[in-house]
Amino acid sequence: MTRIYFNEVVTRDGFQIEPHFIPTEDKVKLINELSQCGFAKIEVTSFTSPKAIPMLRDAEEVMGKISRISGVEYTVLVPNLRGAERALESHADELNLVMSTSETHNLANLRMGREKSFSSLAEVIRFVNGKIPINVSLSTAFGCPMEGNVPQGVVETFAQQFADLGVRGLTICDTTGMANPAQVAKMASDLQKKFSHLQLTFHFHNTRGMGLANVLAAVQSGIVRFDGSLGGLGGCPYAPGASGNISSEDAIHMLDAMGYETGMDIPRLLNLARELPKIVGHSVPGQVAKAGSTCDLHPVPEYVKALG
Ligand code: COA
Ligand code: ZN
Repeated sequence: MTRIYFNEVVTRDGFQIEPHFIPTEDKVKLINELSQCGFAKIEVTSFTSPKAIPMLRDAEEVMGKISRISGVEYTVLVPNLRGAERALESHADELNLVMSTSETHNLANLRMGREKSFSSLAEVIRFVNGKIPINVSLSTAFGCPMEGNVPQGVVETFAQQFADLGVRGLTICDTTGMANPAQVAKMASDLQKKFSHLQLTFHFHNTRGMGLANVLAAVQSGIVRFDGSLGGLGGCPYAPGASGNISSEDAIHMLDAMGYETGMDIPRLLNLARELPKIVGHSVPGQVAKAGSTCDLHPVPEYVKALG
């Protein structure tokens, strides 16, 4: 049975686009509960400019207050050297560096061109100097909401440049849900051939309803690591039209039903997803938490029993 590894990003990607500040204590409580569900990794927060992402201005406090458990890696998103210094001071287990493969989205999100981002992240990698593992998230890898098509060759070039700098993993991000399953299958098989020594993670948003189809295409092409967000929350505030990530519980439920080994406590995860609307103050897109898992059967109606 193939083992699938999930990275839960709700308190980073999920929360960063929410309009109302979520109290630090609520974030800490949610992360502590997620730690009990079987995730391989949790992206706790981001060490970005508090002006750019006000929701995550409490990154240090959250990192200091969570209860870490062994077997779960606690990673953080970092856009620059200042962020890396803060992340190391907070004892993150991994740095998840971020840049976009589209020039326009990189300018919108990080206020600099791709080459400047790359050289700034290369400086971060030299600064970290192997103290902790580094992952790089390549945003808009399947399409940019402002430029349109992003050629796979561009993604591969940045992937190669980071591989040459010795990163442990790459996350290929569909920031605004533009990927389709055929494109994902090709990206997955080509990248695995070229970067078989790296941890490759795929990160999908369900903006156009293709999220789980893309997970399926990736997993059937050999990808075993995915990002997901509880309840299907999420989105980049600097990508026009962005909306939620794939729902972790929907994706995990699907893969489990297909016979993949996810290592997850699904009932516990579903209960947690049902708490999420209280935290964010609105309903969330995830479907299995509303419907129940395929194992949760309904009672046979009395009129059906009477027929027997
Ligand atoms: N942590 C905290 N503060 C930071 C910081 C970091 N990692 N990087 C920059 N800052 C501060 C600077 O100290 C400066 O503060 P000041 O105005 O009080 O002097 C301010 O932010 C602007 O700094 P500057 O270097 O000019 O950055 P910028 O305005 O060009 O913004 C980024 C660049 C990368 C810092 C900012 O765009 C950012 O944090 N983006 C994150 C976007 C994101 O997370 N998107 C969603 C995930 S894909
Ligand atoms: Zn995302």
